Amino acid sequence: MKLNEKLHILNLEDDAYDAELIRATLAAEGIQCGLSRVYKKADYIRALEEGGFDLILADYSLPGFDGLAALALAVEKRPETPFIFVSGVIGEDFAIETLKKGATDYVLKNRLQRLGPAVKRAVLEASERAEHRQAENELRKAHTELERRVEERTAELTRLTASLQEEIAQRNQMDEQIKRSLQEKDILLKELHHRTKNNMYVISSLVDLQTAQIEDEALRSVFRDIKNRIQSMALVHEKLYKSKSLSKLKVREYITDLTSAIMKTYKGMSERIQVELDVEDLDLDIDTAVPAGLALNELISNSLQHAFPGQRPGKITISLHGTGGTLHMKYRDDGIGLPPDFDISKTGSLGLKLVYNIIYKQLKGKIKTGAGQGTEFEITLQNR
Ligand SMILES: Nc1ncnc2c1ncn2[C@@H]1O[C@H](COP(=O)(O)OP(=O)(O)OP(=O)(O)O)[C@@H](O)[C@H]1O
Ligand SMILES: [Mg+2]
Repeated sequence: MKLNEKLHILNLEDDAYDAELIRATLAAEGIQCGLSRVYKKADYIRALEEGGFDLILADYSLPGFDGLAALALAVEKRPETPFIFVSGVIGEDFAIETLKKGATDYVLKNRLQRLGPAVKRAVLEASERAEHRQAENELRKAHTELERRVEERTAELTRLTASLQEEIAQRNQMDEQIKRSLQEKDILLKELHHRTKNNMYVISSLVDLQTAQIEDEALRSVFRDIKNRIQSMALVHEKLYKSKSLSKLKVREYITDLTSAIMKTYKGMSERIQVELDVEDLDLDIDTAVPAGLALNELISNSLQHAFPGQRPGKITISLHGTGGTLHMKYRDDGIGLPPDFDISKTGSLGLKLVYNIIYKQLKGKIKTGAGQGTEFEITLQNR
């Protein structure tokens, strides 16, 4: 309620003349107002219940009931509405008593000039109180809303945290499972290489035993070739069994071991034949290593069998280098050399046919015989 709006006043006044005096006094103060006058208790109570006024101006002495009773009713039913006594002479003690009981102010009828300022102040204070209350209410509402939201968000976060924790636990479990199954696979693979190697060495030993019973030198050399072929493969599994990755083998180590294993099967050769290796330390895939090892076995065997007749000394040179995914291998011996019209793609003999098939068909690589003294092969392969 603001003072520049029209004031609605409930006037508890039995004297119509006094009521008019009040209205005129307020008008003279510039206070626009509508006055509803009641003087019977029942009308007063009904008016209080209906409401719709901004201020109560009450006479003190009324027929039927007194001002204090009227004040008590107003305090009970309209505690926010300012209540001003406008009365004849009352003692100061009594006036203070009314203020204690909830009256906003009192104005003596013989000093009505005080009425205007009293009304203004009461209305202003009441409107300030109302605004204050409203602000408080809004603050309380905002606070409640904030608390609700915080509660909601906290619940949401708690749910989220729980589901994240569950997910983390599931992932950890999955990780564990994967790790376990990888370990199991590694162990299985290792075991597989180990057994394959063992089985091949058993076969190789059986061939050895068999060879010892053969008188015919030519037949013995056939058996020795078979043994060497088995060995070249067994060696791959032996290397893989010992390697960390279980699927890649160190090619330098493999070729070194393969060469000396073959040399050992040819008596007296290591004394007069020198082997020179220039092999890069590369990892070779098992799918390349096994066939490439077999092919190399044939080439070395051929050098030892055909290149150095009599007691002729000589040298075998093997070099292997990788660029990108390509392997370049050069194999040569400084022996008597291949027959002049030799063509590896047309050969009918098993050894070099095997080499040709392995390089071209199995490994999709290339092989060509080199020019110059002795025997030379250049081989190109893709390392997978
Ligand atoms: N390094 C070499 N030096 C000289 N001649 C060779 C060389 N390699 C192969 N030859 C010749 O080429 C022929 C074919 O060799 P290949 O390995 O195909 O058959 P092989 O060695 O006679 O029998 P096997 O099938 O047991 O290997 C040989 O018989 C030999 O005459
Ligand atoms: Mg041969």
